[in-house]
Amino acid sequence: MRDASLVVVASRLPINDAAASEGVFEWRRSPGGLGEALHPVLVNTPATWIGWAEKTGPTAPLPDVDGVHLIPVELSEDDVHDHYEGFANSTLWPLYHDAVEPAVHHRRWWEAYQRVNQRYADQAARVAAHGAVVWVQDYHLQLVPAMLRAQRPDLRIGFFLHVPFPPPELFMQLPRRAELLHGMLGADLIGFQRIQAVHNFHQLAAKVLGANADEHGVTVDGHVTRTGAFPVSIDTAEMEALASLDEVVEKAAKLRADLGSPQRVILSVDRLDYTKGIEHRLKAYRELLADGRLKASETVLVQVAIPSRERVEQYRLLRDRVEREVGRINGDFGRLGVAPVHYLSQVFDRTELAALYRAADVMAVTPLRDGMNLVAKEYVAARVDGCGALLLSEFAGAAAELTQAYLVNPHDVEGLKDTLVEALEADASEPSPQMAAMRAHVREHDIQAWARSYLTALEAACAER
Ligand code: G6P
Repeated sequence: MRDASLVVVASRLPINDAAASEGVFEWRRSPGGLGEALHPVLVNTPATWIGWAEKTGPTAPLPDVDGVHLIPVELSEDDVHDHYEGFANSTLWPLYHDAVEPAVHHRRWWEAYQRVNQRYADQAARVAAHGAVVWVQDYHLQLVPAMLRAQRPDLRIGFFLHVPFPPPELFMQLPRRAELLHGMLGADLIGFQRIQAVHNFHQLAAKVLGANADEHGVTVDGHVTRTGAFPVSIDTAEMEALASLDEVVEKAAKLRADLGSPQRVILSVDRLDYTKGIEHRLKAYRELLADGRLKASETVLVQVAIPSRERVEQYRLLRDRVEREVGRINGDFGRLGVAPVHYLSQVFDRTELAALYRAADVMAVTPLRDGMNLVAKEYVAARVDGCGALLLSEFAGAAAELTQAYLVNPHDVEGLKDTLVEALEADASEPSPQMAAMRAHVREHDIQAWARSYLTALEAACAER
């Protein structure tokens, strides 16, 4: 069964679990998800995707979805708890995001991380054709490249990290830091979102493993791993086409009317995650209402907060805090029929999302740390009218590219307030040169360009080997 020539290995399969439980298999397209990012690259290619199907225990074979062959990895309840919720999302995730919440360490989680990574590597080794490209995704699977190379040295192995790679002083806290670096170095090419991450990785490989690191990559025990920054992107043409539909334009107008036709609409779309800066943003908004610089009758904030990792305690606590604060703001500053915050803890379909983007005068994307943030790029792509303003955190990967945005430090509440007001005061109905420049950027640097540049670099790295 070794016949797959392009194999993607990712924590989960890109299928919609709610639909799948009713026997309908469709691609999961949710903002911030990996399936959303890779859909345009893989759809209708002869690719195979190995991942968890979100059910514990034995999993039945799955049909192909959008032309992609899906191979489920079986995880037990303990695997999910200790690997996905534990080591991946309670140890690595907070540490890789500046430790905005403290990282939790348990030795049992590390054992699960190794065990589960081995299972993904074994599946890939089983199905990949001779010399196939195996593209391993993200922080859940950092040991897979080396585990795979040990079994299948013929493969061309790529690894891409979608999240930030932290500076040495944070990464050095990990008890098993050397093993994690060795795991990644099994790849021929490691891709990061930003050049700073490449530098962090090089420093760590030299310091922890005594590796030789230069501008092209890292050499350990004679094996060369190339490294580089490949900022991930979106399917710009698809979002533009969607946002241009009459149906979407009408929906956007209806949304504004439903909101009571305020003068200004601020929109935020986030996974409900403590890295997204939702609390800082709400605080700034509350203070602006309290100071009288914004009025609830004129401005509305639509906060879409997609539930995420709900069994992890830090996420449950965050949800409680956010919902309490939304209630307080509406209680203190609303009137009958007027709510300053519209809070929607739901998943939106692509058409609704495009309509929201078109309805928003200001899109506020203010994470405390973010690998990239594709919502920012989607907003820009959706503004086919060239209007609208983007408020963007300096700590999102997207800030390195969308430099014409209203850039903010989300920790600086005064600065956040001033810049939000500035963005709101810009004439949202007039096309701006800033939006035009950002739109040109996401058109040229779309997801197809990203995949092409990564896979070409992987070919080159393997050719040298
Ligand atoms: C981040 C990660 C992705 C992940 C997504 C959603 O963007 O880099 O790997 O798919 O968050 O998180 P979840 O835990 O729901 O898969």
